[in-house]
Amino acid sequence: MKIAVIGGTGLIGSQVVEELRAAGHEAVPHAKSTGVDVLGGQGLDEAPAGADVVVDLTNSPTSDADTVRLPATPVQPIAAAGVASAVAEVAAGAPLNGVRDIAGPGVFPLDELGRLTLSRKGDDRTVVTDPTAGMFALVKGDVLTDPKARLAPTRYTDRLA
Ligand SMILES: NC(=O)c1ccc[n+]([C@@H]2O[C@H](COP(=O)([O-])OP(=O)(O)OC[C@H]3O[C@@H](n4cnc5c(N)ncnc54)[C@H](OP(=O)(O)O)[C@@H]3O)[C@@H](O)[C@H]2O)c1
Repeated sequence: MKIAVIGGTGLIGSQVVEELRAAGHEAVPHAKSTGVDVLGGQGLDEAPAGADVVVDLTNSPTSDADTVRLPATPVQPIAAAGVASAVAEVAAGAPLNGVRDIAGPGVFPLDELGRLTLSRKGDDRTVVTDPTAGMFALVKGDVLTDPKARLAPTRYTDRLA
């Protein structure tokens, strides 16, 4: 199967490309650095040409702020390897005609997750709890309860350690 992976040079995308190739598929990475820009539209007509499946794994760049502002929205962080396995499995499998939810095994308020992460990395920036900050402020942050959801095994605190 030919699979175009937009964002295929990124942390998740490059692992998805690797997994798909190992499974015998023709996985083709595309990204801004290869001339495909999902915001400007450059290369977007050509990238999916001839592909059976298109996977979008782009991410927006972040800026370095003096403080970090995060809401206390509950999230279930998942390891990159767990995301890559789930995406590769769905990309190469029969069409779901639906949505498969995936998440990590633990639930954290996002502001606490930020404090934990920065402190483990020796980053002395302060996390300010801000219920209006970023895209996670707009969602309720439901945790996954659907029995069909896929929970990856690795705990966030184990990854940090
Ligand atoms: N990292 C995680 O643990 C994790 C966990 C769960 C979900 N996710 C989700 O997975 C997705 C990818 O995350 P990531 O961590 O792999 O991100 P990443 O390492 O920052 O990679 C981002 C990718 O997007 C590409 N990109 C950025 N702007 C683009 C543009 N305007 N046009 C085309 N390509 C563009 C980058 O290409 P170039 O830099 O080569 O130009 C790169 O391939 C995101 O939606 C993220 O929320 C990530």
